Amino acid sequence: MANHLLSFFLWFFLFFFSGSSFSEAQSVPAIFFIGDSLLDVGNNNYLPVSYAKANFPRNGIDFPTKEATGRFSNGKNAADFASEKFGLPTSPPFLALVEKNDASFDAGVSFASGGAGILNSTDPTFRLHMYGARKFLFTGVPVIGCVPEERVKNETGDCNQEKNFWATKYNEGLVPMLRGLKSELQGMNYTYFDTYSFMQKIIENPSTYGFSEIKSACCGLGTLKAVVPCLPVADYCPNRTDHLFWDLYHPTETAYRILADAVYDGSSEYTFPINLRQLASAP
Ligand SMILES: *[C@@H]1O[C@H](CO)[C@@H](O)[C@H](O)[C@H]1NC(C)=O
Ligand SMILES: *[C@@H]1O[C@H](CO)[C@@H](O)[C@H](O)[C@H]1NC(C)=O
Ligand SMILES: *[C@@H]1O[C@H](CO)[C@@H](O)[C@H](O)[C@H]1NC(C)=O
Ligand SMILES: *[C@@H]1O[C@H](CO)[C@@H](O)[C@H](O)[C@H]1NC(C)=O
Repeated sequence: MANHLLSFFLWFFLFFFSGSSFSEAQSVPAIFFIGDSLLDVGNNNYLPVSYAKANFPRNGIDFPTKEATGRFSNGKNAADFASEKFGLPTSPPFLALVEKNDASFDAGVSFASGGAGILNSTDPTFRLHMYGARKFLFTGVPVIGCVPEERVKNETGDCNQEKNFWATKYNEGLVPMLRGLKSELQGMNYTYFDTYSFMQKIIENPSTYGFSEIKSACCGLGTLKAVVPCLPVADYCPNRTDHLFWDLYHPTETAYRILADAVYDGSSEYTFPINLRQLASAP
């Protein structure tokens, strides 16, 4: 049921390795991304068969190169903005390094892959803690019932209540789990971002964030631009900065930036127990 959609919206996990390469000048030596299409910077381009690809127009129309890169966005995505916060280049896709026979992971790596699911995944936190990762960012499931793909199925254009209910349940389980993990794993520190509540706040007060359209996708065809996905034949809105959603499921570059800012420097209402900036400077 919600499984398919949830898999699109496994928001991002990122890992800071603080090890010997830790320097004062650079509080964060490298970032490792694990997640799905919200963070994918091109891994899926290397998959021979995947329905979750974005390496074709109109994706990327606002990217610096104006080309589709595999990011599910009109421009940059959350991985780019998170990396920029620390003055780091975006961690390269793992599969790009594999293809180049390049095994240097010192600059970080992205394992994020569009369509990656949460079910059946063994908890990666313990795999990575053993290798020296100590600082983690976890993000909750967003308001998955309010993406254009869900709204278009409701005659009134409203959100799917059931999907939102399960998203809330999932997050309610995740928060105490993280607290438990911290007490079990020595030296572990983390940031949790309440993506659901933050996105709900945007949806309720769009103009505060500069949005005038929070229901419809920017790129697509039909009602809410959500009947036909963002394919090369699709229309797209002239102004991407006033839309919350780029396509059926994914935010616009502007929305990714707003989310990344809230994760990095946001108030403890949505980003707790500490925000990403505080996490980076923690011992
Ligand atoms: C996922 O988990 C279910 C339930 O444990 C199992 O039946 C299924 O084979 C698993 N799928 C994969 C791909 O491992
Ligand atoms: C459709 O929207 C209405 C509100 O207008 C809501 O009551 C209803 O639950 C929604 N349908 C689904 C399937 O969530
Ligand atoms: C696009 O939308 C933003 C945000 O609503 C607005 O500030 C800007 O003026 C718009 N740009 C154009 C060209 O209409
Ligand atoms: C986590 O970070 C906070 C804020 O810097 C710090 O006070 C705390 O001691 C850190 N906890 C661990 C286990 O490192």
